[in-house]
Amino acid sequence: MDHFTYRNGRLHAEDVAIADMAQQIGTPFYAYSTATLERHFNVFAGALDGLDALVCFAVKANSNQAVIKTLANLGAGADVVSGGELARALQAGVAADKIVFSGVGKTDEEIRLALETGIRQLNVESEPELERISAIACEMGVNAPVTLRVNPDVDAQTHEKISTGKLENKFGIEWTRVHDVYGKGANLPGIQMRGLSMHIGSQLMDLQPFRDAYTRAGDLVAMLRADGHTIEVLDIGGGLGIPYFEDEEALAPSPADYAQVVRETLGGLDVELVLEPGRMIAGNSGILVTRVIYVKEGATRTFLIVDAGMNDLARPTLYSAFHKIEPEAEPAPGTDLIDADIVGPICETGDTFAKDRRLPPVKAGDLLVMRTAGAYGAVQAGTYNTRPLIAEVMVNGAAFAVVRERMDVEDIIALDRLPDWLED
Ligand code: LLP
Repeated sequence: MDHFTYRNGRLHAEDVAIADMAQQIGTPFYAYSTATLERHFNVFAGALDGLDALVCFAVKANSNQAVIKTLANLGAGADVVSGGELARALQAGVAADKIVFSGVGKTDEEIRLALETGIRQLNVESEPELERISAIACEMGVNAPVTLRVNPDVDAQTHEKISTGKLENKFGIEWTRVHDVYGKGANLPGIQMRGLSMHIGSQLMDLQPFRDAYTRAGDLVAMLRADGHTIEVLDIGGGLGIPYFEDEEALAPSPADYAQVVRETLGGLDVELVLEPGRMIAGNSGILVTRVIYVKEGATRTFLIVDAGMNDLARPTLYSAFHKIEPEAEPAPGTDLIDADIVGPICETGDTFAKDRRLPPVKAGDLLVMRTAGAYGAVQAGTYNTRPLIAEVMVNGAAFAVVRERMDVEDIIALDRLPDWLED
């Protein structure tokens, strides 16, 4: 459920008319709904009721501080994958002991920052990383809390670019080697082995891969305990899929069904669980608002050329992802629909948000809204074609605030430097 609805024929985010925001701040922009964010977090966390579980929002999905802080106020921790995300989470007020750090390529600086700030755990993905953390922790005279990320060799049955749990993927330590590598970690100075972690992929629409992976994790915990290790933590990652269009609504697993799988596979394990949902919390909490620049009648199709581009929302071109696109003005019942391609201004054919999309007739100047853009939207934006990063807005009831300023072209150009031989 979300809080983007038509009222008196105009699309609103909570109590704020999208058109009013567009008028005040210009387009394109992302808008986030506080009520939707809060609802999704509470439903997800509530489904885990009775389990010893910490929900760490995967900041990579949406790292705006207003989003992180809204969730932190509800008790969320943070899953971060870079020093930058760690700094953002801390600055947004997430307590260090609620931050977990994942990722295959942590640098020395990032490891140092994690140890200095005293985060909850580093999820370690390789033996060289384990050795590096040991060396840095010894140098700093601290003990590094570590989980070992297991690659369970489970096919998440999602898009190949966001599957992470198969042996051919770069993530984690293959499950057959966990016994050896965990034992090695336990003997390394400066390392405090706390348990295991895993994350098998994103946008999973089927719960069976979770069941398979979590069953494997449970077996590994039992094996490690039999080896004499103390296992306190099991971090089971994120990945729960969400509906991007109506037909998916019946297919998307509910947080309650997901939590049932967690209970059945891990409920009796006597470990503290960490969960890292990103998309489930932020996805449907955000929209991208864009304005039609031109309606171009091509030889074979109609193009709606909008002012957002693939640099603002990369998901359609990167993953052939579907985002529902709605007009800001509610069509009258019985309006004849047209088929159109919705495209951006960027000089690539890949700059296409939707092909052959059925929409009510639209004219230049109209606003369109791309739904489910709160996760992996703004965070994946770039400045291709020297297009400034767009504004982000947060709505809360009848109030809204710009939570990231639109960049200026000058901001981008100002980063360039001319070498001395080109200076006038
Ligand atoms: N934990 C780890 C270690 C991850 O790598 C990820 C996502 C998550 C948690 C959160 O997964 P979620 O609950 O959001 O599915 N850009 C892609 C998605 C990339 C996901 C990367 N890792 C997209 O737009 O579909």
